[in-house]
Amino acid sequence: MSGAFIVIEGADGAGKSTLCRNISKALESRGIDIVVTAEPTHEGIGAFIRSGEAGSISQRTEALLFVADRNNHTEKIEKMVSEGKVVLCDRYFASTVAYQSAKLDGDSSDRGWLIDINRRFIGIPDATILLDIDPAIGMGRVGTRGEEISKFERLDFQNQVRSNYLFLAKEFGFNIIDSSRSEQEVFSEAMSILDRVIR
Ligand code: TYD
Repeated sequence: MSGAFIVIEGADGAGKSTLCRNISKALESRGIDIVVTAEPTHEGIGAFIRSGEAGSISQRTEALLFVADRNNHTEKIEKMVSEGKVVLCDRYFASTVAYQSAKLDGDSSDRGWLIDINRRFIGIPDATILLDIDPAIGMGRVGTRGEEISKFERLDFQNQVRSNYLFLAKEFGFNIIDSSRSEQEVFSEAMSILDRVIR
């Protein structure tokens, strides 16, 4: 069979990890060679971002680190796809545009800059699924993690992330799934999208 590159996107609490697990199990049981991966990655630049060792850097610098991690990751993804594997990636370029432009106060010129810089270094996924949920519901799922910022600030930030994602979905033709529905319903809808792509 030929390989495919599938991306799952969504704000915190949208249910990406659960969906990735369910898709992976389903494709494995069909005998498909599936690799689940994520960004930021867990090695090299991705591990550096996750470690917090970059210290207090600007959002622009952080965005560049995410893109550098992505460029490295994309080379590996493209190799796996060329070997016939289905690669399922938890977050890709839309995460940088949605999150880093929200952190930059949602300024649309920053969003344009973030799209431009990503365009140079990304592969084109065969399908991107956006799990869309009202942050008031999604954040309830995540629960409070004892962060320094207030619940309202978090909600405001996640609302900006959501609206950036919806803008990108229109611009780049993402498949939107309403992830306030049950795990089973979200999974079935995702599989019907993937069945059109994986052959
Ligand atoms: P997340 O998917 O929550 O990873 P994990 O469940 O393994 O911790 O992603 C971690 C955070 O990184 C999340 O809040 C979104 C953020 N992020 C960005 O801000 N920009 C990016 O480009 C990516 C890939 C992630």
